[in-house]
Amino acid sequence: MRIIVTKDYDEMSKVAARMVASQLILKPDSILGLATGGTPVGFYKELVRLYNEGTFDFKDVKTFNLDEYLGLSKDNPQSYYYYMMENLFKHVNIDLNNVHIPDGMAEDVARECKEYERKIKEAGGIDLQVLGIGNNGHIGFNEPDVKFEAETHMVNLDEETIQANSRFFNSIEEVPTRAISMGIKTIMHARKIILLASGTGKADIIREAVHGGITPDVPASILQLHPDVTFILDKEAASKL
Ligand code: GLP
Repeated sequence: MRIIVTKDYDEMSKVAARMVASQLILKPDSILGLATGGTPVGFYKELVRLYNEGTFDFKDVKTFNLDEYLGLSKDNPQSYYYYMMENLFKHVNIDLNNVHIPDGMAEDVARECKEYERKIKEAGGIDLQVLGIGNNGHIGFNEPDVKFEAETHMVNLDEETIQANSRFFNSIEEVPTRAISMGIKTIMHARKIILLASGTGKADIIREAVHGGITPDVPASILQLHPDVTFILDKEAASKL
């Protein structure tokens, strides 16, 4: 595991964007795994800025997002599809046929999960996966559990996650209680992983993920076993390491 500590949020975002840019320059048809949440907003902004400089583009890039809320349609401003359009896709030359995000409105959720997993495999697996981390150590929406859930699956969100994510909704009642998430095996199969974290609120969980035991109770702890993972942390998030 490689740990990069940056002076602040902006620097964290820039370091992450430069790593993704270099991936796209070296392999223009990369398969990217993408994350949502508050943390990567600055990273997407910086990635778009670098894209506008013209050294790389998204013409041949395929993307797979980690997760989506169940019950939210693409045009719902709280859906991760909408987030991705606003923060990245509408600003770059990606072919929307190459964009994959679990369908939050799927009628047959089990089938949607299976299909999603199949599409990732068919594309050849993920070259570079971007991750954030939940306050309880979740990655994607893989919540603390008694076992690591391997493949794309339906998740019942933890109370703590619903609470934390309610800041993006008008009220806590509006936060979906279920989601579809890529599994731990799917994430661990990515050839390269970067995890972003910012702020003192993430310091405890970052310490547990980096120095604690490897346990499904802290899903991010499994990243200790990945051969090419980089944590990009601002100094607050790294303050308890
Ligand atoms: C959400 C997402 C995760 C994200 C996490 C942290 O629940 N499903 O992918 O990493 O929240 O979000 P934030 O960056 O807003 O703290």
